[in-house]
Amino acid sequence: MSALFPKWMNALPTLGAGAAFFGLIGVVWGTWYWATPDYTRVGYMPTQPGTGFNHQLHAGQLGIDCRYCHTNVEKSPEANIPNVATCMGCHAEERLRNWDIHRVGFVREAYAEDRSIEWRRIHKLPDYVRNFPHDAHVKAGVSCFSCHGQIMGMPVVYQAEGLHMGWCLDCHRNPEKHMVPPEKVTDLVWVETEWLARPVAGRNYNGVTPQQLVDSLRRSPPQTCGACHH
Ligand code: HEC
Ligand code: HEC
Ligand code: HEC
Ligand code: HEC
Ligand code: HEC
Repeated sequence: MSALFPKWMNALPTLGAGAAFFGLIGVVWGTWYWATPDYTRVGYMPTQPGTGFNHQLHAGQLGIDCRYCHTNVEKSPEANIPNVATCMGCHAEERLRNWDIHRVGFVREAYAEDRSIEWRRIHKLPDYVRNFPHDAHVKAGVSCFSCHGQIMGMPVVYQAEGLHMGWCLDCHRNPEKHMVPPEKVTDLVWVETEWLARPVAGRNYNGVTPQQLVDSLRRSPPQTCGACHH
């Protein structure tokens, strides 16, 4: 043996193990990096078409209610993105046209050419989560804030929550922490600064408390596999 192989080669098994170890880290990292789907990526913020759409300006400063544009959020299991006609309700106006002719040009062009704007989707559950009824949550009094973050302060929307199974179940086990009076679900600044900022026991809105909101649910939030996966 010693005649055939130089002495330094004795270290090879150790080097091999080291290489395998780092190789494994590489594989784990690679899998995480390439295979982690978008729905678990907190902070995911794709570049939107044109100059984008500014929620801080429209929902925060101008005070347009979420449901003016997202008309389905409490009516359908799927939320919706508004079409260009909704934007033109305001942006056809001469006054706004002149102010922001360059920044809203892409909206008016799309409308003139009768095509939709290809907004890039941010929140997306994997297909094997068969049942996420968006409307049931909003109607029950879970604020957009709990699931999407402070949209009224976002010039560009990003994913604020991980949307993983443990996240759904955490809230389903302890919903009272997240319940807000249903008429306040879209008042995100109030929800963050006036309601959720207080301890659960100190929350009271015109006599309504978190426990009463939980008691008024049609049924408790489900924890059985079939409720979300069928
Ligand atoms: C004037 C119309 C308008 C109003 C008002 C509005 N939005 Fe939006 N929203 C849009 C448009 C257009 C998009 C798609 C572009 C983008 O993602 O920025 C969008 C995207 C979103 C998304 C990301 C959807 C995805 O792809 O996952 C969320 C979440 C959202 N809005 C929540 C809200 C909330 C909460 C409010 C109220 C505080 C609100 N929006 C008010 C027009 C509006
Ligand atoms: C209820 C009225 C209203 C609606 C509906 C509305 N906007 Fe606006 N938008 C405004 C006003 C007011 C401004 C601010 C103009 C200014 O300050 O110069 C503005 C500004 C903008 C700007 C330029 C500022 C910036 O941040 O880039 C863009 C782009 C824009 N809107 C896109 C949209 C799109 C896309 C929609 C539809 C999803 C939409 N708006 C719906 C009222 C509206
Ligand atoms: C209980 C959590 C929860 C609440 C509350 C909630 N959302 Fe969502 N929302 C989600 C999830 C999860 C998705 C992705 C759904 C999917 O992929 O099927 C989503 C998707 C969306 C989308 C994207 C729809 C599309 O087709 O691209 C919009 C817009 C939206 N929500 C707006 C809102 C608004 C506005 C409110 C408040 C009125 C709200 N959401 C309340 C969890 C929530
Ligand atoms: C912040 C709190 C919260 C989060 C996060 C949340 N839920 Fe819920 N969920 C609720 C509440 C509250 C109800 C009860 C609604 C009712 O009884 O009307 C509910 C009810 C449901 C129901 C039953 C609806 C019905 O009509 O009986 C399903 C299915 C569901 N949630 C799926 C999900 C999934 C999937 C996720 C994660 C992607 C999720 N939820 C995240 C609070 C939440
Ligand atoms: C409240 C809704 C909800 C309930 C109840 C639920 N799940 Fe899930 N589950 C999800 C969501 C959302 C995802 C996707 C996000 C993720 O992978 O964490 C998921 C993902 C999964 C995955 C894929 C995990 C992965 O990492 O790829 C499996 C397996 C799974 N669930 C099994 C179950 C089983 C078994 C039960 C019953 C003990 C169950 N789920 C109950 C919402 C739910």
